Amino acid sequence: MRVAVVGATGMVGEVMLKVLAERNFPVTELLLVASERSVGKTLAYKGKDYTIIGLSDAVAAQPDIAIFSAGGDTSLEWAPKFAEVGTTVIDNSSAWRMDPTKKLVVPEINANELTTTDKIIANPNCSTIQLVMALAPLHKKYQMKRVLVSTYQSVSGTGVKAVRQLENEIAGIQGEMAYPYPISRNALPHCDVFLENGYTKEEMKLAREPQKILDDRTFSVSATAVRIPTAGGHSESVNVEFLNDFELNEVRRLLNDTPGVTVQDNPDTNTYPMPIYAHDKDEVFVGRIRRDETQRNTLNMWIVSDNLRKGAATNAVQIAEYLIKNQLV
Ligand SMILES: NC(=O)c1ccc[n+]([C@@H]2O[C@H](COP(=O)([O-])OP(=O)(O)OC[C@H]3O[C@@H](n4cnc5c(N)ncnc54)[C@H](OP(=O)(O)O)[C@@H]3O)[C@@H](O)[C@H]2O)c1
Repeated sequence: MRVAVVGATGMVGEVMLKVLAERNFPVTELLLVASERSVGKTLAYKGKDYTIIGLSDAVAAQPDIAIFSAGGDTSLEWAPKFAEVGTTVIDNSSAWRMDPTKKLVVPEINANELTTTDKIIANPNCSTIQLVMALAPLHKKYQMKRVLVSTYQSVSGTGVKAVRQLENEIAGIQGEMAYPYPISRNALPHCDVFLENGYTKEEMKLAREPQKILDDRTFSVSATAVRIPTAGGHSESVNVEFLNDFELNEVRRLLNDTPGVTVQDNPDTNTYPMPIYAHDKDEVFVGRIRRDETQRNTLNMWIVSDNLRKGAATNAVQIAEYLIKNQLV
């Protein structure tokens, strides 16, 4: 495969290259693409140096697959240009996710929707991916009515500038701010921009994307998204009301039997998922599984995953692998 990685110098881009190499993705030619600021610099992949090129040159090269992690505006402008020359685009930004003509894919759940005509495929939001990975098997069995989710999101989810802000604050250095407030020793109830309804864009992604991925509008999701000074992954406190009752042991078994999900849940040994241990792993970890004693058929759980891996790079590479395996590219 002739593969372009757009946004190769970014937070997701760096992990994308790592995941492509680790999974031995069948790359015959690699195009590393970033903004004009980075053109001419070099990045290494599997021990070989590659020179960063610009978007026009990458389109002219007509790669088979382009994996975009370069922000929504770049995707809106450039993904169609790649699609026009026959490239299949897998996009990590929010640009195409809710476009009814584009598929929003978590391979373990709905890759079977993909066809050869899908030239721009959307990767869901990082906090959505880990949420639906845990919800999908439970929804299938017990039918969700309502989900309440509060997130504890890593600074790596905002990109290079935010990680630098946290590192600078810890080191006592004045530097550029990615957030309107300090993030070290703080919690910002503010991920992405505020919308007219008082929610943030991140919260509305959590509300809307699960319905599209699970192809079901009969349940609702209400979210509060919070940025905290961690780097390894996003955590989510999730309360789910089902139509049907459940057994806790069966819930644990269903989750453990789900490819890509690992249950870490034993209060006796203080076993529960945490971002420092989820860091650099592909799995979605679920713990603190317990019944909500205040309401019928309702479950509480805690979900943690590395936002740069399953939340972005790994999910995108899994989509690409599915396309190849099923001769859709
Ligand atoms: N971080 C996450 O956990 C996460 C998860 C899921 C999805 N995403 C999405 O992935 C995208 C990248 O996020 P990130 O966290 O990796 O951000 P980042 O660290 O700020 O990196 C942004 C990347 O995009 C490139 N870029 C920016 N403007 C460009 C332009 N006009 N033309 C070409 N390349 C351009 C940058 O190149 P330069 O280095 O040359 O500026 C850099 O490679 C965003 O859309 C984000 O929403 C992020």
